[in-house]
Amino acid sequence: MDFKSKKLNSGKQLQSQAVRAGQYRSDEGEHCEPIFTTSSYVFESAEHAAAVFSEQQEGNVYSRYTNPTVRTLEQRIAAMEGTDAAVATASGMAAILSVCMTFLEAGDHVVCSRSVFGTTTGLFNNYMKKFGVDVDFANLTDLDDWLDKVTSNTKLFFVETPSNPLCQVADITALSEIAHDNDALLVVDNTCCTPVLQRPIEHGADIVLYSGTKYLDGQGRTMGGLVVAEQKYIDPLVVFLRTAGPSMSPFNAWILLKGLETLNLRMKAHSSNAAYLAKWLNEQSKIEQVYFTGLDDHPQKQLIDKQQSGAGGVLSFKVKGDREQAWKFINATEMVSLTANLGDTKTTIVHPATTTHGRLTDEQKDLAGITENLIRVSVGLEDIEDIILDLKRGLDSL
Ligand SMILES: Cc1ncc(COP(=O)(O)O)c(C=O)c1O
Repeated sequence: MDFKSKKLNSGKQLQSQAVRAGQYRSDEGEHCEPIFTTSSYVFESAEHAAAVFSEQQEGNVYSRYTNPTVRTLEQRIAAMEGTDAAVATASGMAAILSVCMTFLEAGDHVVCSRSVFGTTTGLFNNYMKKFGVDVDFANLTDLDDWLDKVTSNTKLFFVETPSNPLCQVADITALSEIAHDNDALLVVDNTCCTPVLQRPIEHGADIVLYSGTKYLDGQGRTMGGLVVAEQKYIDPLVVFLRTAGPSMSPFNAWILLKGLETLNLRMKAHSSNAAYLAKWLNEQSKIEQVYFTGLDDHPQKQLIDKQQSGAGGVLSFKVKGDREQAWKFINATEMVSLTANLGDTKTTIVHPATTTHGRLTDEQKDLAGITENLIRVSVGLEDIEDIILDLKRGLDSL
């Protein structure tokens, strides 16, 4: 199949690309993107098979690394990110693992932000170290700390911004300069902002990755991961996928395609509900502190305004007290879902210290600022009055 001849016009603006980019219409004339549930593909002749296998001719071979539905998703997210290419993986963690396995080898060194998703820390500490990759953790906002942690073997900087749950922001441009001065790549986990609110490559990042499980799907239906970058970075990643197999299924790719179509609209609605909730929480006497990138008095407001076009839906707050008060608050809510996922249309609430970050040591929790009285909320798309009413049940229980 000649993919390029069937490519459709997908417009220039992000919202048009979210709806249309990457789609190829078959001779059947289908309007919605089809799901290709096939593991392999049939060739027209032995000559054709040999040409496709040897990559002299473009074509599908095997769905571990070539599937039209997955390819449509990859091209759509790349268009939204404003770069060349992407590769889809089975989950966000598979995306992070694939980047590590592709760009690192024994003897290399990584500087990772201290404020990343707990399982990412575990991957670096428990597995990358096992294969001879050394890792140091730096304070997300302290550029001198990043510089201090660099060694002659540093190959990769890994950062999540804004951080979850404390909504601290990394200066992507400044970190990319430090990384590039030291011949290292800057990898940004952009899960919490999505390309709608932040496009890290425009600020100097080399590789952007996502847990698609979060906002990209947006409705808590599927696992998925994406790595987005220039073609020169994606090509070796595809070879890794072909060899190791942490690939995305076409059905999950189709769900994510449908998710992307409404991403722009959802991110704006999440941001607006979260801003309303953050303001309300800030006015409550039983709340010690609120963490949200949309707050006017956020200590990094200038950087946030430069880097992000909105705050998104993740916020956290500390109740006055300890674990007992935090759990009491959570247990008194009735509508919001007590679950670890974020980026869903349904509002979710969680106690990071005993769930998402529960595997960190006490020292790691201390350094990452995960205290026992901290609660994270991923603000969904229910009516904001109902969300506030529910969190008020939490407050009233204290
Ligand atoms: C910021 C961030 N990155 C990566 C991941 C891992 O993604 P997945 O759960 O899809 O493997 C998560 C999951 O919560 C996350 O929050």
